[in-house]
Amino acid sequence: MVSIALYPIFGKPFVLYLGVLTLTSYLVTAALGFSYYRGWLQFKWHPAMVVVSFIFAVLMTLIGLSLHKPLVGILGLLTLFSFVIAAVIGVGIHQRQLNIRFIWHPVVVVIAIIFAVLHGLAGIMMFI
Ligand code: HEM
Repeated sequence: MVSIALYPIFGKPFVLYLGVLTLTSYLVTAALGFSYYRGWLQFKWHPAMVVVSFIFAVLMTLIGLSLHKPLVGILGLLTLFSFVIAAVIGVGIHQRQLNIRFIWHPVVVVIAIIFAVLHGLAGIMMFI
């Protein structure tokens, strides 16, 4: 795993590219959720992109944790944790099984994005 994480592409380790892809996918998921909320797009694209983001997030976690960097790792796990909570709230509200105000869904998403940016910054500092 470490050799995959550090495999150089254009002089930079693979894990940095995977991180950028994971964050981009997460932001696209949020943008699609917002677009559905505003009535601009059909709902189906939002959960479809949730699945893509989740696959990136799991790959990123497996490859990232192999580097054994405590601060970056903890921020990464907090990002994954808040992503999962946001998704659980989304499913709960959508299936009308969770009696919670809708606002908590985007609020937890924003918290996850803050963790993701901090995680990314800490990760980039490892390689400069
Ligand atoms: C990247 C972060 C996000 C994740 C992981 C996420 C996840 C989910 C999931 C898993 C569902 C349920 C899908 C289903 O049951 O098939 C959902 C529903 C929904 N999401 Fe998101 N979401 C995110 C961001 C957002 C944002 C930023 C908004 C905009 C405010 C949003 C608006 C919605 C809406 C309107 C629903 C449907 C709720 C209902 O049926 O009443 N999502 N989300």
